[in-house]
Amino acid sequence: MAKTVNLMIDDRPVSVPAGTLIVDAAKKIGNDIPVFCYHPKMEPVGMCRMCLVEIGRPVIDRATGQPQTNPDGTPVLQFGPKLDTACTTPVSEGMVVRTGTSKVVDARRDVLEFLLTSHPLDCPICDKGGECPLQNLTMAHGPGKSRFLFDDKIHLAKHYPLGDLIYLDRERCIQCARCIRFEDELAGDPVIGFSQRGRRLEIVTYSEPGFDSVFSGNTTDICPVGALTTADFRFAARPWELKHSPSICTHCPVGCNLTINVRREAISSGKSVVKRVMPRQNEEVNEIWICDKGRFAYHFAESPDRLVTPLVRKNGELSAASWEEALDLVADRLKQAGANSLALAGGSLANEDLFNLHQLMQGVGGQAVQYTHMSGGEYTAAFGLSEGSNIGTMGAETAIVVVASDLYQEAPVWYLRVRAAAKRGATLIVVNPRETALDSAAHQVVRYAYGDEAATVRALQSGSEDAALKAAAEAVGKAENVVIFFGSEGLGLEGSRALAEACAGLLQAGGHTGRPNNGLVGVWPKANNQGAYELGFAPAADLADAIKKAALVYIAAADPAGDDPALAEALNATSFVVVQELFLTETALRADVVLPVQSFIEREGTFTSGERRVQRFYPAVSAFKGPRPDFAIAALVGQRLGLSLEGRVPSLLMLRIANSVPAYAGLDYPKISAVHEQWPVVHRGDLFYGGTSYENRQGLGVQLKANGALPPVAPAAAPFIPLPAAGQVLVAPVTRLYDRGRTVTPSVLLHAHLAGPDLHMHPQTATKLGLQHLAAVELTLAGKTYVVTVKWDDTLPAGVATLPRSVGVPFFAPAAVTVALATETTGVQ
Ligand code: SF4
Ligand code: SF4
Ligand code: FES
Repeated sequence: MAKTVNLMIDDRPVSVPAGTLIVDAAKKIGNDIPVFCYHPKMEPVGMCRMCLVEIGRPVIDRATGQPQTNPDGTPVLQFGPKLDTACTTPVSEGMVVRTGTSKVVDARRDVLEFLLTSHPLDCPICDKGGECPLQNLTMAHGPGKSRFLFDDKIHLAKHYPLGDLIYLDRERCIQCARCIRFEDELAGDPVIGFSQRGRRLEIVTYSEPGFDSVFSGNTTDICPVGALTTADFRFAARPWELKHSPSICTHCPVGCNLTINVRREAISSGKSVVKRVMPRQNEEVNEIWICDKGRFAYHFAESPDRLVTPLVRKNGELSAASWEEALDLVADRLKQAGANSLALAGGSLANEDLFNLHQLMQGVGGQAVQYTHMSGGEYTAAFGLSEGSNIGTMGAETAIVVVASDLYQEAPVWYLRVRAAAKRGATLIVVNPRETALDSAAHQVVRYAYGDEAATVRALQSGSEDAALKAAAEAVGKAENVVIFFGSEGLGLEGSRALAEACAGLLQAGGHTGRPNNGLVGVWPKANNQGAYELGFAPAADLADAIKKAALVYIAAADPAGDDPALAEALNATSFVVVQELFLTETALRADVVLPVQSFIEREGTFTSGERRVQRFYPAVSAFKGPRPDFAIAALVGQRLGLSLEGRVPSLLMLRIANSVPAYAGLDYPKISAVHEQWPVVHRGDLFYGGTSYENRQGLGVQLKANGALPPVAPAAAPFIPLPAAGQVLVAPVTRLYDRGRTVTPSVLLHAHLAGPDLHMHPQTATKLGLQHLAAVELTLAGKTYVVTVKWDDTLPAGVATLPRSVGVPFFAPAAVTVALATETTGVQ
């Protein structure tokens, strides 16, 4: 515990931990010292001088070491001859700070006047207008009148693309370096910087492509002016026109809290449309950040390709039908299929949807299966993070192990927070067969060959001759708290289960379960895979076989036919297929009944994040006419079968979940919606301090309790890693953030970022196979032939190649593959 320091700020006593900066100490008592360059999440730099204050310190008697006193007993104070920056000065005992004297008021006015000498004052057409710290602080502290003629001001390029997602208006930049420091200090992507000096100083990008960071949108939130804007929102709306709805990101297991800004538009016949997605503060989840996928990949929800009418197959064709007709048919066929029914649920369904689907299957005696390539959820349900855990508080007492996962690509905000924990002193151990972005923050990097994941984790317990492994094992052995993030890089179902089992074993052996800041975290492919495991959906060992054996397959939020030819074939052979979907997917095209569903922006519900936090999302726009929420559809089918399922009010459904699923016991919507005070302060009246991230008034979520009890499970089999023959290469699946999924591709502005059909391999491996950089080659995986581009990549180990799962083969486990040059006629996919 840091020592407490007592001081006076504007005659008010303040007690704060030693090391607190004056600006933060003042903020804690509601005294807003204006800032531009300071940001409470970053190291202070003292560049803008907006935070100048008068500081007096007690005079210490050299002889006694005690403060000198005036005749009235008050301490003798010595004020500096000049003002000091509150953002760089830590508090000290007995300090007296004055923030409202005429000297301070004059200084603030002068700093603002000086900043405005080179500012274009184009607020009426500036995207930041209405939520601009410079505007607000000028109104509060500025000169009121400009002495400068606009034409005499320096004019620089406007609308300058730093990358394809972020535009710079050079005239508006006040050179605070918040954007540069964010990318460098917090994101670890030093891709932008200052160039030139003086008035010519400008932000430039050093990366190719420009501004190459998956966190770039955050710089627009913390830029105190409209110098940085997103390609998505610029000129799209004014902030005061926007309504804001709380939501949760659906793209990865982090569960970042969002605010969805909507506006009613004539162009959309008076309907509310989404104008932008912003971070919503949750210091235990995403702090005030989101990644660019969460920010920009929302367009799918309003896609004109959305399904709006139920479809029923008649005479071999899918034809529009009424809800009654479709639901009656599904209920009839479910009744007939009974125990031969199989529900296949995707990891983006909400908890409420999953619960009702599970109940429906229980009602008919069918089987509930999770559609995922990654297993091990029984271990995270038993030994996952629990109540009171927070990556944001982890420090020297904690060892964080990240194994078989590229967090930067798979769960960017975890990458950000784990990196920050490592900076605070947590021991970060990255265990992966190839280099990943997190290596740069790691204290130990352990390499292994694909297939040796579980054995490597076991060696962290038992020790090894390998120096890196030995050092990592020592760090894990010494740590008071241990958290393991495990992913599915290069792994299929069995491999990921074996890895989860090994990780759970390591945690159990060290007593790192059932305590806050200890446990196992699955880096799942989808937002609610953890919820699906907690609610009883396990993957099938042989899904194609399970599908073939079922008389009826009921699929929600999954596209097995689009993902895997073997699953498509199995579905072709199934007598009745029901699909709940947003789009007419390959699977929907094969269905007998297609039921259109609402997207997450039209409805409410909850997700359970990878950290086992149950969080609530709310409707942001009125629903498309036609589609219904997944949970309501399952309930309507169930009601036709005489089951009592809640289909109208999600909060009531949560009560049912709480009553039947032990991990969720005691949970209800009011608890999930509860908030408490957070630091730093962010809200719409206070944009200069933390930025334009939204305050969280709608719920911080509830982390599930650890049950610590593993249900009886069969030991996992070691994954089979085939040995490549001559002319072959071991192809391992990796996950890329910007995949080619149905929820990403409708966001056109992300197209340049989508993972390409690229087969990365070390130049030596490629040379051995006779493959040049950028050669077009053909390979066959899981029965499907792909044409892909060879990319030489010297970060990869010899003898392997990586291929993004999103290229079309999400379910494949590592395979020995013959790679042949593509013929001219095949073309590159
Ligand atoms: Fe500061 Fe914005 Fe300029 Fe970056 S672009 S230095 S955040 S004013
Ligand atoms: Fe969404 Fe994950 Fe990005 Fe957060 S880190 S915004 S949850 S994709
Ligand atoms: Fe303190 Fe910029 S110098 S906020």
